[in-house]
Amino acid sequence: MKVAVSREEHFNAAHRLFNPAWSDEKNEAVFGKCANPNYHGHNYRLVVTVVGEPNPETGYVIDLKKLSDVIRSHVIRNVDHKNLNLDTPYFRSLNPTAENIAVVFWKILREHVDPKLELTVKLYETDRNFVQYPAP
Ligand code: NI
Repeated sequence: MKVAVSREEHFNAAHRLFNPAWSDEKNEAVFGKCANPNYHGHNYRLVVTVVGEPNPETGYVIDLKKLSDVIRSHVIRNVDHKNLNLDTPYFRSLNPTAENIAVVFWKILREHVDPKLELTVKLYETDRNFVQYPAP
C-alpha cells in the first residue's frame, strides 16, 4: 500500500541560459530572452514527492515537517535570492535550465531521504512550464 506525499517550497532566483561555446547570436537564437546577458528572474515552485508505505505506528510515509526542513536547509537556502549562474556552485559550467536544476536538486535531496522511499522532484519555472525528475 504505497502512498505519495508531497511538500511544496518556493524560491526566487535569477539565471541566464547560454552555451559558452556558442556565439551571442546563436545563444539568442536558441534561448531567446532567457539568454539575456544581464540575467532575469523566476519565482520557482519546487514540489518534492516521496512514495512509500505508511509507517504502521505513525501513519506517515515521511514527516512532512522534516521533509520541509531537509528541502529548506539543503536546497532552498543555497538558491533563494541568488543568481544561479554566479552565486551557486552547481551552475558554473552547467546551464541552469529547469531540467538541470531539477536533476541537481534531486541528487542533493536523495542523500537526505531514506533510500527505502522513492523520490521525485517537480520544478515549476512558471505556472505553465514545469519539469519532473525522474521522468514519470
Ligand atoms: Ni528563465
